[in-house]
This record gives sequence, structure tokens and C-alpha cells, in this order.
Amino acid sequence: VKKSHWAQWHEPYDDPSSPLSARLHEVKVQLGRALDAAPPGPLRLLSMCAGQGRDVIEVLATHPRGRDVTARLVEADPQNAEDATSRTAEIGRSDIEVVCGDASVTDAYDGIVPAGVLVVCGVFGNISAADMALCISLLPSLSAPGARVIWTRHHRPPDQTGFIRSTFEQTGFVEEAYAAPEGFVFAVGTQRLDREPDQYEPGRRLFNFVGDGALPA
Ligand SMILES: C[S@@+](CC[C@H](N)C(=O)[O-])C[C@H]1O[C@@H](n2cnc3c(N)ncnc32)[C@H](O)[C@@H]1O
Repeated sequence: VKKSHWAQWHEPYDDPSSPLSARLHEVKVQLGRALDAAPPGPLRLLSMCAGQGRDVIEVLATHPRGRDVTARLVEADPQNAEDATSRTAEIGRSDIEVVCGDASVTDAYDGIVPAGVLVVCGVFGNISAADMALCISLLPSLSAPGARVIWTRHHRPPDQTGFIRSTFEQTGFVEEAYAAPEGFVFAVGTQRLDREPDQYEPGRRLFNFVGDGALPA
């Protein structure tokens, strides 16, 4: 079977010295800290455009709070969704649900919202600036009080990381972590919702995923 474009995108994860593996490490560190800081008791997590779910699944397998988490990973590419599903099976976790479907409408999160942890990794590099703002503006409607969002974005020109961080701030999030290690193009951030969540609304579009090849330079 020929690997799909988005399955191939994941290949550098198999090389521990790749920049993508460095990014994965930072995402896992920040996700682990978000779990450390989460209120005790059951916790819900969603991952948008989850890919093969390496970040979430590896953390939930090892973190002391991992067992408290019910998760939904939403990924459109069938090969990636299948990969993520077999990873959850490997660790024996039927409460990590992998949905092969469209992560860009709020309906995808029906039943897992309000979530205490929202993973939005590999999304902002593939959507327009207007859609980054739209997506961020709707995150409080998917959030539990004090929810944490872990996100990534490259800072190749046009560097949108400043725009993303200020949009989060204007939306009522406070920044808890921001890492943009020297020598790499990625940035990883954690923002915590610092106001009342918004009401969940089904049927709202969060973004159009266009892929970075289709975005204006
Ligand atoms: C850059 S990759 C990031 C994957 C993963 N979050 C990670 O960081 O390792 C983007 C993923 O989004 C998926 N994708 C694209 N459009 C989507 C959509 N509308 N709904 C769900 N997933 C989508 C692709 O198949 C791809 O696996």
C-alpha cells in the first residue's frame, strides 16, 4: 500500500534526531505538565488533526494521570487513524477513541466536550491567519473551566506565532509555556483558559485545512 501524504509526513518521527522528534518531545513535555496541573478526577482530552496520535498516546500511556483521561483523537487520513488506533490497542486503552473524520467542525467533539486539555498540534501551519483567529475564538466553547490548549506552529516567514499568542490572550487565555528552541523552526505553546468557557455550539466551522503548500507565502 502506498503511504498517503500525511502518513509520510510522520516518517521523521521514527528518527529520534529529526527536528520533528524534537518537536514531539516538547509537545509531550508540555502535555505532561498540563496533566500535572489539571484538577484531580476524570479529565477529558481532545486532539484536532491528531495524525498518528504519538504525542497524546505516548503521554497517556506513561503519565501518572494518564488513567484519569478519556480522549478523542480526530484525524481525517485513514492510514494515520488506523496507526493511532493500533497504538491505543497496544497500550490497552479503549477510552482513547480515534475517530477517522473531519476535525474542522465542532460536531467532531460532541460528547468529549467540555475538554480540560485540547491538543491543536500541526494545525496552525496549515490554515490561514483568519482561520487561526476563528479557531482560537471557538476554543472556549470546547473547553472546561481552566482548560489548557497545547499548540504548535512553525515560525518560518510569515511568522504567525506572535499573532497566535496575542489572539489567545485577547480570547481570554493566559500563556503558561512557550518554547521556540534555537536551531529549530517549531514553536510549542500552552495557553490556559482564564475566563468562563463559552457554550458549546454544534455545526460551527473551526477552519479550512488547506495544507502549507497551498498557503500564501
Ligand atoms: C501536520 S499533521 C499533524 C499531525 C499530529 N497532530 C502531529 O502533530 O503529529 C496534520 C494532520 O491533519 C490531518 N488533517 C487534515 N485535514 C483534516 C481534517 N479536516 N480533519 C482531521 N484531520 C485532518 C492530516 O491528515 C494530518 O495527519
